[in-house]
Amino acid sequence: MSLFISFFYDKVMAATEEACLREWRKQLLAPVHGIVMEIGAGTGANIAFYSDKVEQLILSEPDKDMRKKLQTRLADSGFNNASISAASAEDIDAEDNTFDFISASLVCCSVICPHTALLEIKRVLKPGGKLIFLEHVAAEEGSRRRTWQNRFNPFWRAVAGNCHLNRDTENSILEAGFEIREIQRESLRKAMPLVRPSIRGIAAKP
Ligand SMILES: C[S@@+](CC[C@H](N)C(=O)[O-])C[C@H]1O[C@@H](n2cnc3c(N)ncnc32)[C@H](O)[C@@H]1O
Repeated sequence: MSLFISFFYDKVMAATEEACLREWRKQLLAPVHGIVMEIGAGTGANIAFYSDKVEQLILSEPDKDMRKKLQTRLADSGFNNASISAASAEDIDAEDNTFDFISASLVCCSVICPHTALLEIKRVLKPGGKLIFLEHVAAEEGSRRRTWQNRFNPFWRAVAGNCHLNRDTENSILEAGFEIREIQRESLRKAMPLVRPSIRGIAAKP
């Protein structure tokens, strides 16, 4: 991501955060506890929603400009027991079977390879550990929205830090060997129409 994107990210997302994301983040992160990693933490929009049941939190963010914003947000939060890592989702700097929970919000759209990233997330989760996901995804196959997502995707990737409009992340989660325990499909309100289809929920490492 460029300095430009990291500077404007919170401003661009503000209306959608207000309309739905903040509430969804709060609900999704409420059960999170123990040893936790967040993948692609961005500017730290989730930090406020981790409870004191989280014993240790590692926020990973490979982009240096996003990481600066994350450092500031973390310092302001007063959240103890948290640290920041520059690891990417495809190469997580942790032993196998380390984490009780991993959270990833609006990240699978942007990683280089969702399959590699999800296998890596599964590797570092403990057996029975949970992936908390919140992602904008491809619209239904054959729909007009999907056609436009496909058309617009090369441009969007170029201007939005490799963000893909048309990834089938639910399928990628299943293909990586997770069991989806909860899933909700809803429109991201106040987002650009091609970014609106979303999924959120909990997947478990068997
Ligand atoms: C759309 S932002 C989402 C930020 C934050 N998770 C949120 O919910 O607002 C996508 C984030 O994923 C990060 N990212 C991109 N590629 C990544 C990768 N391969 N591994 C981990 N994070 C990545 C970007 O740097 C960016 O911070």
